[in-house]
Amino acid sequence: MTSEGLAGALAAVLGGQGLIVQGYDSEPAGKPPAPVRLRKNVSYVVLAVFLNEQDEVLLIQEAKRECRGSWYLPAGRMEPGETIVEALQREVKEEAGLHCEPVTLLSVEERGLSWIRFVFLAHHTGGILKTSSEADEESLQAAWYPRTSLPTPLRAHDILHLIELAVQYRQQASHPLILPRELSCNVVCQRLVATFISIQTVWVLVSTVGVPHLPVTVSGLTPMEQRGGIKMAVLRLLQECLTLHNLVVETKGLLGLQHLGRDHTDGICLNMLVTVAFRNPGVQDEPPKIQGENYSWWKVMEEDLQSQLLQRIQESSVVPLNR
Ligand SMILES: *[C@@H]1O[C@H](CO)[C@@H](O)[C@H](O)[C@H]1NC(C)=O
Ligand SMILES: *[C@@H]1O[C@H](CO)[C@@H](O)[C@H](O)[C@H]1NC(C)=O
Repeated sequence: MTSEGLAGALAAVLGGQGLIVQGYDSEPAGKPPAPVRLRKNVSYVVLAVFLNEQDEVLLIQEAKRECRGSWYLPAGRMEPGETIVEALQREVKEEAGLHCEPVTLLSVEERGLSWIRFVFLAHHTGGILKTSSEADEESLQAAWYPRTSLPTPLRAHDILHLIELAVQYRQQASHPLILPRELSCNVVCQRLVATFISIQTVWVLVSTVGVPHLPVTVSGLTPMEQRGGIKMAVLRLLQECLTLHNLVVETKGLLGLQHLGRDHTDGICLNMLVTVAFRNPGVQDEPPKIQGENYSWWKVMEEDLQSQLLQRIQESSVVPLNR
């Protein structure tokens, strides 16, 4: 097996880089999936948290009829043809009047493929704060508020948790800076760094179909698949090669995110860190047995990759994926 190629791929993914999606190892209904289309069968939302030196947070006042006058973080739906960062910058400009740059992804939230929200910590780079005299259909105005005395009413209280995440990240970064990588993808899929920790080392699951690679699993659009969320696709792939009932599988979170959009491909690829362990703890020095011939465990011998993997697993140093 070309462990050199695998080591390079693993290093890239751990470094938050993207890798071209060249094929899929697990597909819903076992057939090649159709491309997803923004606004047709997938929908993405971007949201930005800004904190200034005075520990204030940037809020916008909603203009939409159903929530007019309430306050929220700058956020909105992505449009076809945009990159994730372009969507973020457009929404922030429209709603708050500011130019911005994302600092890092803080969280990805999803309710199936019909609502996936990318939450960023961002900083503003210019522009002029939108005042009530510029109220339009995007927002009524924007303002900085002390974190401890937010205005009322809020459009929804989910932003309290997101503001808290941003504050914590700024105090002590729980993961490296992670920004979307501009790589085209046709479907919503996840590339797995599925690990098993033994006494001596770390093992990573690889697909041996064609050139050995980190396996990729496609999220399905059926209600059944969506009920379990996009993590379902991770379990489906693992189920195809492992006997899960005596194992504990944990989807830790994202190491990276890939999307282009500009070429009108509307898929995303989430590079996910997953752990596989035996349900009955004990001295297990070999990873769980693999069924079939399409996968194998790769024993990671490179010390820097081993230690990076252990650190990322033990400290949950990933972007959380929440429902
Ligand atoms: C998503 O919607 C597009 C446009 O309606 C359609 O062509 C495509 O087959 C759908 N994708 C899936 C995976 O169902
Ligand atoms: C292994 O992969 C090949 C090629 O993709 C496929 O035809 C076959 O069904 C797979 N085997 C199993 C056990 O899934």
